[in-house]
Parts: sequence; C-alpha cells; structure tokens
Amino acid sequence: MCGIVGYVGSADACSFLVDGLRRLEYRGYDSSGIAIQVDDSFDVTRSVGRIDSLAGKLEAIPAKGSLGIGHTRWATHGPATEANAHPHFGGDGEIVLVHNGVIENFQPLKSELKEKGYTFHSDTDSEVVAHLVADCLRQTPEVSGQPNLRFLNAVQAAVRQLRGTYGLAIAFRDQPDLLIAARFGSPLVIGVGRGEYFVSSDASPLVGRTDRIVYLADHQIAVLRPEGFSVLHHEQGKVRVDIQPLEVDDGDVSLEGYDHYMLKEIYEQPESIRNAMRGRLDDQDATAVFGGLNLTPQQLGNVERIILTGCGTSWHSALVGEYLIEDLARIPVCVEYASELRYRNPPIEKNTLVFGITQSGETADTLAALRETKRKGHRTLAICNVVASSIAQAADGGVYLHAGPEIGVASTKAYTSQCCVLAMLALYFGRMRHLSFERGKAIIEDLKKLPGAVQEALSCDLQVREVAKKYQDASNVLYLGRQFNFPTALEGALKLKEISYIHAEGYPAAEMKHGPIALVDEATPSVFIVPHGTTYDKVIANMEEVKARGGPIIAIASRQDAHVDSLADDVIRVPHVPEFLQPILSVVPLQLLSYHIALLRGCDVDKPRNLAKSVTVE
Ligand code: AGP
Repeated sequence: MCGIVGYVGSADACSFLVDGLRRLEYRGYDSSGIAIQVDDSFDVTRSVGRIDSLAGKLEAIPAKGSLGIGHTRWATHGPATEANAHPHFGGDGEIVLVHNGVIENFQPLKSELKEKGYTFHSDTDSEVVAHLVADCLRQTPEVSGQPNLRFLNAVQAAVRQLRGTYGLAIAFRDQPDLLIAARFGSPLVIGVGRGEYFVSSDASPLVGRTDRIVYLADHQIAVLRPEGFSVLHHEQGKVRVDIQPLEVDDGDVSLEGYDHYMLKEIYEQPESIRNAMRGRLDDQDATAVFGGLNLTPQQLGNVERIILTGCGTSWHSALVGEYLIEDLARIPVCVEYASELRYRNPPIEKNTLVFGITQSGETADTLAALRETKRKGHRTLAICNVVASSIAQAADGGVYLHAGPEIGVASTKAYTSQCCVLAMLALYFGRMRHLSFERGKAIIEDLKKLPGAVQEALSCDLQVREVAKKYQDASNVLYLGRQFNFPTALEGALKLKEISYIHAEGYPAAEMKHGPIALVDEATPSVFIVPHGTTYDKVIANMEEVKARGGPIIAIASRQDAHVDSLADDVIRVPHVPEFLQPILSVVPLQLLSYHIALLRGCDVDKPRNLAKSVTVE
C-alpha cells in the first residue's frame, strides 16, 4: 500500500523517482505523482491509474531537477483522483510532501488548520500533514549556524501532533538540497550513495543505484543533503545508524524471462524452500537451529502454549503450523486472525509464545496484535520475509524466510517458506520435548527432499493450463481437503478469488455435507486435495458424494494413486511426501491453477484489483 521514493543529489531525480515507483507498483496503488524542485518552486505531476500514465505526462513535459519525491497512492481518504494523489503542498507551497500511512486525528487537525486560514485541495489525511508541517515551520525560528535545525524542529513539532502511522518524505521550497524523511509504523529506508541519497518504502528501488542501505526505525527522522546525512530519534536525539549492505539484486526484482512475477515466484519455490532451510538443519542433534529467537533454551523449554497469528495467506500457514506443532511437538496451539486478536482480550497463560507470521512484515493488524500481546508481557516472535520490517523490529526475535522479494500480490513462495519454517520449528520444539532422535533424523531427511519434490510438482504446469481452460468460466469453485490439507483448501480458494475474481470457498472436506454441498451442480467444480494419508478414504467418500450430484471434480492426488481416476474428471499428480509436508507440495498445482485461470480471464495477475501487497491500514 502506498509507496514513497525520494532523491537528493546531483543526478536527474525524475529518472530515479519514476523507475523507483515502478518497482513499488507491486505494493498496490491507484494513482501516483512526483514533485521535482525546479528553481524556487516545485514541479508537480500527478496521474490516476498506472505509472505508465504518469511517465507519459512526464515525457511530454519533463521535470528536470536533482531533488524530488514521488508516491504511489492506495486510496483510503477520498477516491483515486488527481487532486487526492500525492505529493501535497503545505502552506503556500513552501513545502511539498508524500505520506504513507493513516492519520487518525486528521479531522481535528484539519479544522484547526482551516481556522488558521489554510486551504485544502484534497480529501486526504496527508494534506493535513503537509499544512501542519508548513504551520510548524512558520512558527519555528532559525538557529544560526545550523541550517538544518529549523526544518528538523518543524518536522518534529508536526509529527508529535500526529496520531496514527506515517512514512514521510518532505522537501522545502527554500532549501533546494534538503530532504527530510520520517517514519512511524510505515516502512522507510535510506539508500546511501556517493554525494546522493535515496528514500524509499523498501529496498527494491535502490537496486542498481547504491549497495548501502539504512533501515529507519519508528520515531526516527533522517535529514539528507548531498554532502551527508544524519538520523535523529524524537526522544534520544542523534542516533548512530547501521549502514548495511543491500542484499537484493537485480534478478530478485526483475522478471527474468517470466511473464509475471507470480509465475516466477511459483517457480522459485524449490530455491526459496532451500533458502529457508539453509544452515537450520542440525544432523548431529537431529533438530533445527535458529539464530534469532533471542530466548534462552530454558524459556523455550518452558513454553506451554503457542499462539500463531497473521492475516490472509499468512493466517493459512499459521493453520498448517497448528497441525505441525501439535503433532510433532505436542504443544497446544491457537491460531488467531491478527485483526481479531488485536481487539480481543483472551486469557493468555504465562509461558505462551506468540508468533506473528507475515511476508511483508508491515501488515498493520499483525503488527498491532504482536504489540498488544507484547504489552501484556508475552514473548513475541516474527516469522517474516522482509528484513528489518516493522514487525521484524517490533518482535522480541524471530525467523526470516529468506525467500527473496515477493512482488506478485498473490503470495506463493512466502507461503511455502512459512510452512517450511513452521515445520522446522515443530521439529525444534519437538526435539526439546518428546520427539526421539530417530524421528528427528527422519524428519530432517524428509525436509531435505522437499525442494526436489516441489521441483517435480511444478512439472504439472502444462496439464494445469489445460484444466484451467475447462473451468475458466466457472462462477463458483469449492476447495476441499482434510487435516494438513484443510489449510491448503483455504489457500487454494484464496488464490483463485484474489487474482481471477471467481468466488471460491475452502472447507474441511467433511464439512461439505453440512452446507456447501447445496452448491454442487454441473457448473460448480470441486477441487479435492487428496494425497495419500490418514484421511484419504474419508476424502474419497466425500468425492463420491460430489460425483453423485454431478459436480465436476479436480483431484490433487499422489503419483501412485490409481483409484482416484475413476472419480475425478481431472487428476493432477504430486510426488508423495509424508503427511506433515503435504501442504507445501499440494498447494503448488493450486497456485498454478489460479494463475492460469486468471490469465485466461484476462486479469492482471500481479496487480489484482483493489488489493495491496502490504496492507498497512486496518
Ligand atoms: C496473499 O495472497 C494475500 N495477498 C494476502 O492475504 C496476504 O497474505 C495478507 O495480506 C498478509 O500479508 P503479510 O503476509 O505480508 O502479513
């Protein structure tokens, strides 16, 4: 949701801003804009729709300058119009600003500012911040010999009045080489170049521009001029920041020959799963090892309950985690929607460990749920893909997925990596408790075979495309699975919904007869996830029930299963793996099915309507 870029240096700001905004497109947006400092004013260009339209405008009327800010907006306050698109001016144009986040107290601030004579041109909460900074600037005196201080003080005075979340990049009309960036609850990074600095919502726009990055933390403000930068904390004053190497490369953020990021990411899964396991399997002790849990073995040994929380696909991997941890480690697990957990007041026993599961590390509900449980005195850990993201910073410790950037809005490789990390955590907790050395060893061997099995599962792609052609016009699809594959059914349904806009429901297969079976008819396909396992016969019986009512059946089944052919209209085979790893494998054909159906329906696979990659609002 909303992306921010900024540049100060001596090169052409516009080229970085437009290129950077393209790299942030995946976050989800509906309008965009840039402001370039030209002489004593700002050249602002805004556009509704794709970045191409903004780029078209800029080609016709180029904006030349070496300081600028840019933004992709995902509408919250007011529709997607040019007037609501950022950047927004503050005062009489003495500042210009882009904002990511939500200002909860924007209404009272707006009324106050209106009374003071400020005029608003948009419906946004962000324009309030722009006028507020301008207002503070007007009241802040210069400090002789310290040219940055007045501007910094003004920004600090403004953000102190904000309730909500913000990532901000601010430029000042009278300071043609000063950029200020501030963050609370919305991600911001600084790219450190030679005589130039970049601001961005994440690392991807920096690739090819610099190889050094600073991850701003909450309450930090960065002051950037071509000759140097400093970072301040609103209470602690100047802070020493860690300039880290940029670990994203061009291959991570380019399509590399694939038509879509989603397809690329589906195909990257053998490697992303390998990366999730790299260095984490300990053959000698038949367990897993994690560097960043930041808990003592005694604290981990004392854990009596685990809460897994997240949203969307990450919530589905939490459900897989519940099966895994309860089965292998015998620790009771609760799975909670983060959006519910944050406002509920469940009794949580001491010795409960709370895991926030998230690809982006920025999901507002997951962040709030973790903060709330942490406030109540519980240990919080993150299972997260994006390094130094808000949730990674807020948790007491955690496990990174190392899946590389996931750009397609539909989460694919992050999901399988989350499941894989949860399997390793189950092994780890299990080995601290009842799991034998032999069983631990066997699990490690199974995990090691996983990337190869996923590679093999991908070979169904051509067949899945043919299946997609048969069902592309369906209005409703049911996804049914049991036990470890019940979450797979939910995830398959979510994937289809979000990118093809077909209504789909996932259910535990046996629940079908308690309601959803009423939907079954010749036009409603059911996707059964039925690899060999403890409930195989039961799921087969459910398939019989659907077949008896004339419903078309697509089965995701084990390679060796001959019986299923007589029941299903289409059988997609996956290699056989033990039950606890099946979710990682059986989701692969479902990802491909949704991809091909969406493509056949002419949908924008990587940027589905209304969705954002990181959901930073409630
Ligand atoms: C996944 O395909 C979805 N786009 C969405 O459900 C996503 O998983 C959810 O918004 C949570 O995101 P997170 O993992 O970044 O926290």
